[in-house]
Amino acid sequence: MRLDVLRRGTPSQDANYDGDAEPTTAHIGAVVADHLPSVVATSTWLMRPWSADPTRGAVQLRGMAVLDDFQNTGVGAALIAAGIAHALASNATYVWAKARDSALYFYERRGFTVDGDQFMEPASGVPHHLVVLELRQ
Ligand SMILES: CC(C)(COP(=O)(O)OP(=O)(O)OC[C@H]1O[C@@H](n2cnc3c(N)ncnc32)[C@H](O)[C@@H]1OP(=O)(O)O)[C@@H](O)C(=O)NCCC(=O)NCCS
Repeated sequence: MRLDVLRRGTPSQDANYDGDAEPTTAHIGAVVADHLPSVVATSTWLMRPWSADPTRGAVQLRGMAVLDDFQNTGVGAALIAAGIAHALASNATYVWAKARDSALYFYERRGFTVDGDQFMEPASGVPHHLVVLELRQ
């Protein structure tokens, strides 16, 4: 799914992330029973510090991807809600992500704020911004 949705049209064919197999990493997806493939969305939540406040617990969201036919139907919002619940249960103070500019509206609608300047991600070659959500004071 990462290759199909996130690496389409890019030179990168490496869809693995450092930390995919760490015991504290959560992979949260969405399954539609009568659909092939049954997994129609994926997201990965890793324990990684937020650069502006590195002493507090934080979760980085990576690999947020919804299959084309299921985009804009609420699946992504459901994954964010599940990931935030996971982060709260992990005692994290922040959830953060490197968000594609094309998806910034999606994160802002979920309460994230944009932090810092635009940058390019080598793996995808598209512009990004950092986004962060503070879960507790
Ligand atoms: C970005 C993405 C994860 C969002 O997930 P999704 O399931 O499509 O989003 P949802 O259906 O939950 O929509 C959430 C909100 O965004 C809005 N939205 C969705 N697509 C939109 C679009 N193209 N333009 C404007 N608004 C849009 C929805 O109307 C909804 O608005 P609401 O909060 O007011 O109800 C998904 O579209 C996707 O995988 N895109 C391609 C890969 C990608 O960009 N991943 C993110 C990498 S950082």
